[in-house]
Amino acid sequence: MSIDTFPYVEQAVKVVQDKIGSRPAPRLALVAGSGLGSVADRIKDPVTISYADIPGFPAPGVHGHKGNLVYGEVSGVPTIVLMGRVHVYEGEESWRLKVMIRTMRKLGCEFLFLTNAAGSMRLEVGAGELVMITDHINFMGGNPLVGPNEDKFGPRFVDLEDCWDPQLRGILKQCAAETNVPLHEAVFAGWMGPCFETPAEIRMLSMMGAQTVGMSTVPDNLVARHCGLRVLGVSVITNLACGLSPLKLSHDLTMQEAEKGAAKLIVLFERFMEKIAKL
Ligand code: HPA
Repeated sequence: MSIDTFPYVEQAVKVVQDKIGSRPAPRLALVAGSGLGSVADRIKDPVTISYADIPGFPAPGVHGHKGNLVYGEVSGVPTIVLMGRVHVYEGEESWRLKVMIRTMRKLGCEFLFLTNAAGSMRLEVGAGELVMITDHINFMGGNPLVGPNEDKFGPRFVDLEDCWDPQLRGILKQCAAETNVPLHEAVFAGWMGPCFETPAEIRMLSMMGAQTVGMSTVPDNLVARHCGLRVLGVSVITNLACGLSPLKLSHDLTMQEAEKGAAKLIVLFERFMEKIAKL
């Protein structure tokens, strides 16, 4: 079944605008991945809205996802942090991802900063490391844009050459150098989940050119590019991928390790926003 997201987006925009009142429209939205919600603590003069109060947004659910939209300022830039996203493995509810991202665009955002927890296929890039997404491979068995095109948001066919924005990547690299936060780069494989991969699947992904893997972010990127947002993505590595480490993979492990990596992500994010303020 395909859902017309436009009425939800219109109502969601209104709810958020009513709450933020006369404050400026957001320029950037950040999606906080599992265990990375502490980014929202850096927002000055926050206005917090529960997803439960925003039409078409997902019900707060998956462990580690708070289900709040937080509006405020970071380094002087009006910003929204989305604490919690929707995953393809949630099945019928996954259309809500489109509502969330399109609402950011209609509110006025130019940029989308995607973060996630991910597994690494490079032994030298282990838990706690930050990795900027330079490109992706969609292994999720689907695309959120399948179905009638919603022309009010974007075109039927979307070019993905610059789907991880080269200028924003350059700026983030500069921020990493200035703050001494090590920042690796990788091609990210989007995996549907909810099962983690098998060792053989990890070998396959690796041979096919990916260095990191996770169960989100690729659909977010596709919906964002469709409606013209410029996108940047950073993974916090929570584990070496299946078969590469003696640790048993679990969501608890993901949460614990992501929380540890969040501090570095925040340093990078704040510096990045200082540069966005001048862009
Ligand atoms: N695979 C998929 N998703 C993940 C992983 C992983 O190893 N770690 C955190 N999210």
